Amino acid sequence: MHSESRLRLGINIDHVATVRNARGGAYPDPLRAAQIAEAAGADGITAHLREDRRHISDADIDGLMEVLTVPLNFEMAATDEMQQIALRHKPHAVCIVPEKREERTTEGGLEVAREENKLAHFIAPLREAGCRVSIFIAADRRQIEAAQRIGAEIVELHTGAYCDAHAEGRFTDRDRELASLREMSTFADSLGLEVHAGHGLTYGCVQPIAALPEVRELNIGHFLIGEAIFLGLHPAIVKMRAQMDEARA
Ligand code: PXP
Repeated sequence: MHSESRLRLGINIDHVATVRNARGGAYPDPLRAAQIAEAAGADGITAHLREDRRHISDADIDGLMEVLTVPLNFEMAATDEMQQIALRHKPHAVCIVPEKREERTTEGGLEVAREENKLAHFIAPLREAGCRVSIFIAADRRQIEAAQRIGAEIVELHTGAYCDAHAEGRFTDRDRELASLREMSTFADSLGLEVHAGHGLTYGCVQPIAALPEVRELNIGHFLIGEAIFLGLHPAIVKMRAQMDEARA
């Protein structure tokens, strides 16, 4: 079903804001990071406006909408407040993620299957406003089927468990996670959903995910912002792009 083979790279700039907010000042500026990411070949910018505003702020979203020349993928929880913000900005894409205040990062995928009616109503106005709606879920058949039923255009498959298993040397678990990501990306594609993937990806584990033919976009943040300390942001992104292209060749 997929027609384009070039894998897109979305750069998540949340953790530039995390560093900025550690001191409460104006730098490092996430908008400047977004512009460097664009210059380094990013196909899109992702930013997650969390309910507690721990990293990205409302002003960052205003600024991104003004300066970006590539699409903004606006990550948000399924709350009324976030829906209002998304409807005001009408970003290119909205990615619905689960959110818990106490978590350090987005720990799992969204429970779509049990919240089908509620989510179908939640995303309808976003779709009517012209946003592409993506749902961040585990590589799980039930969740993929539910995402399709509620009218999502995209599913983003959570790669966190795969990446953790790789980093911790649990290779049997890693290979099992990879096998289910492979199988579920094929399944989602067969239902007509566009498949994205992300969370926890590094130079060390990106290639098997980048090689999955149905995956059209990767969203990568934390590792690259960390690498930017050592390499600079532009070279860190160029290196990731090269790894992705090599895996796809
Ligand atoms: N995709 C989604 C839906 C996410 O929530 C995140 C983390 O905010 C990412 C991708 C990027 O994950 P990471 O920062 O670990 O690369």
